[in-house]
Amino acid sequence: MAIDFTPISPEIGGQATGLTGSRLIEPEAAAQVRAALDRYGVLIIREANISDADLVTLSRQLGNVVVPPRGGTDDHPEVQKISLDPAKSELATYQQGTFYWHMDGANDTIPQFATLLVARQVSDEGGDTEFANMYAAYAALPEKEREEYARMRVVHSLAATQILVYPNPTEKQREAWKRVPSREHPMVWTRGNGRRSLLVGATADHVVGMPADESRALLDRLLEWSTQPRFTLRHHWTPGDLVIWDNTGMLHRALPYQPTSPRLMHRTTLVGEEAVA
Ligand code: OGA
Ligand code: MN
Repeated sequence: MAIDFTPISPEIGGQATGLTGSRLIEPEAAAQVRAALDRYGVLIIREANISDADLVTLSRQLGNVVVPPRGGTDDHPEVQKISLDPAKSELATYQQGTFYWHMDGANDTIPQFATLLVARQVSDEGGDTEFANMYAAYAALPEKEREEYARMRVVHSLAATQILVYPNPTEKQREAWKRVPSREHPMVWTRGNGRRSLLVGATADHVVGMPADESRALLDRLLEWSTQPRFTLRHHWTPGDLVIWDNTGMLHRALPYQPTSPRLMHRTTLVGEEAVA
């Protein structure tokens, strides 16, 4: 049976309702979900109420699943708990970095292909998630700028994001951030299939070979351009919602919520399939 997604806006997002976890793990579903992901960038599946076991099954049918070294649930090491509460998530101290536009794994040679996020508990205030379509943002730039940016390279680092959260870091924090290797990528990612997207965001530290203030101004301007309303989508969560996004071509961020909030997301990530080129 066909899984139908309807467009949310002209530039980003497709949604489906009435798709439960058990439908999503039917053998023919994965190919349809992947095709929809290609087309819409972000898939909102309202009240999918998918179990962790089915989330893992679906994820495996969509690609290779990342097994993170920490932060997994007891039953499913692939399922990471996303929360600002240190009692719920080992990674809580880094989670405020998610309040800034980013791509997951931007410091890796091969950033993750896709992320699946399920709302287990939601926040009363804040905690929506926003997405920005970086294919559309790039395509809409004037040709001259597209060519110019395609020649630039950008260094991405954990420190670039964390300094936004902790503007006055201790020496210990700086040391910890530095232990995560930074990574240089082209500013424009050209896929094997010819699609191109801008690769900027909070992880973007500087443009290679450009004076620092000019580099900062350009990165800020491009992020502002890419996150205009026409390229973005904001999702307000209901418990049980499942959102899947093409992590290579969408930036995303959580809107701020309190560390004491009950908000709890379960997340799986799919291994990247293409190096940034
Ligand atoms: C993430 C992330 C956003 C959110 O899990 O990588 O950025 O809304 N989450 O929790
Ligand atoms: Mn993220």
